[in-house]
Amino acid sequence: MSEITILGTGYVGLCSAAGFSKLGHRVRCYDVVEAKIERLQNGAVPIYEDGLQEIVTEGLSSGLLSFHTELAEATEGAEFVFICVPTPQDEDGSADLSYVLAATTNVSPLLADGATLVVKSTVPVGTAEKVCNSLKRSSINYVSNPEFLREGSAIWDFFNPDRIVVGSESEKAALEVANLYCQSNVPTIVTSPASAELIKYAANSFLAIKLSFVNEVAAICEKTGADIRDVTEGVGLDSRIGGKFLNPGPGWGGSCFPKDTRALLSIAESAGATSQIVEAAVSSNIHTFERIVDRLAHKFSDGLAGKHIAIWGLAFKANTDDIRESPALEIARRLLDAGAVLTAYDPIAKIPTNLNKVAQVSDAKKAVESADALIVLTEWPEFNTYNASEFIPLMNMPLVFDTRRVLNQTWESASDLIQVGRR
Ligand code: UGA
Repeated sequence: MSEITILGTGYVGLCSAAGFSKLGHRVRCYDVVEAKIERLQNGAVPIYEDGLQEIVTEGLSSGLLSFHTELAEATEGAEFVFICVPTPQDEDGSADLSYVLAATTNVSPLLADGATLVVKSTVPVGTAEKVCNSLKRSSINYVSNPEFLREGSAIWDFFNPDRIVVGSESEKAALEVANLYCQSNVPTIVTSPASAELIKYAANSFLAIKLSFVNEVAAICEKTGADIRDVTEGVGLDSRIGGKFLNPGPGWGGSCFPKDTRALLSIAESAGATSQIVEAAVSSNIHTFERIVDRLAHKFSDGLAGKHIAIWGLAFKANTDDIRESPALEIARRLLDAGAVLTAYDPIAKIPTNLNKVAQVSDAKKAVESADALIVLTEWPEFNTYNASEFIPLMNMPLVFDTRRVLNQTWESASDLIQVGRR
């Protein structure tokens, strides 16, 4: 059992804290937002993440997990202090390190000699040096330990990692951090802080490139009569390519890929390098949003103005209430610009205030009432259980656009169905 402190209780900090407590470590969490800590002390988890609530409740009752509003109380005697604060995008696309550096400066005088400071926040190459300069403590070890948790399955990912990456000047400290995960059979990459930092951006950018490519192939399928499902199956079975992350959609989004691809471009630029392929993936993604809207618009001889469009799904992907940089909202904005009238349904995500022209309803049937078309933008599993016969009669026109290929076969015969990646 180790003494761990987590600074920042966002989804990375909270899921990691819960995971470490479940593994038997004593974990104390601190956040500058006192109201959030007070709610967590009462067991109220502020985000929707499968399995998280149960582990937090268990950790609170066993005493292995606790939440603190005083930094000194949260860090006294800590062996490992994880920085899990946000690194939002600056105006120029680079990552804003101010929260990371402020957390470092605040915690520095409280750390015991020999303790290890771990940065889990996604930070640009060269951050280790900046953090160590703010730390001003040669007796503290520094380890960069990027996270690979997906929202919606972060707890599963925590306990089933593909690899553990630890970057440090001290191999001993790096291995101690890796050992906290109790994953003796998982490959561990022990490397320099710079490589660890770049692994995170390169991984997210590669996945974004993969998706932009799949969405472009889907567009080719729509024009040629090929079916993206069969194409990705045939391509993904090549073990050099792999079948994961090949689902086409309305574009990629979320709190990580858009921010991290832009940050990688900014890192490359400041280093005097370029990444044309990441640039292309970002612009290809914008083109995907536009292609989806155009395809729907082409179904109406007189355009989208005044058309009542129902939207199913607002979250950037299923199993989360997160709408940050959600493709669904990108598409909603474009539909509004084209003059459409929108009614949306999502099982848990909410329409943001800056899109208050979109009416939100709390049931999928209400959303489609009198609609001229339905567009499915998030792959919520519940949409797959819906039978077309219960919805199509409520619509003004039976036009349905499934951008996630999530609807079941009942929709094929009952509606005028268009699907992404299929003519
Ligand atoms: C991503 C990475 O997958 C995690 O490994 C990483 O830790 C995380 O960013 C982060 O940097 O914190 P996340 O943003 O939660 O995780 O979501 P993903 O599951 O990767 O999905 C990102 C976007 O790609 C979503 O819009 C999703 O709908 C889309 N997607 C994903 C597809 O369109 N098709 C796919 O086959 C997979």
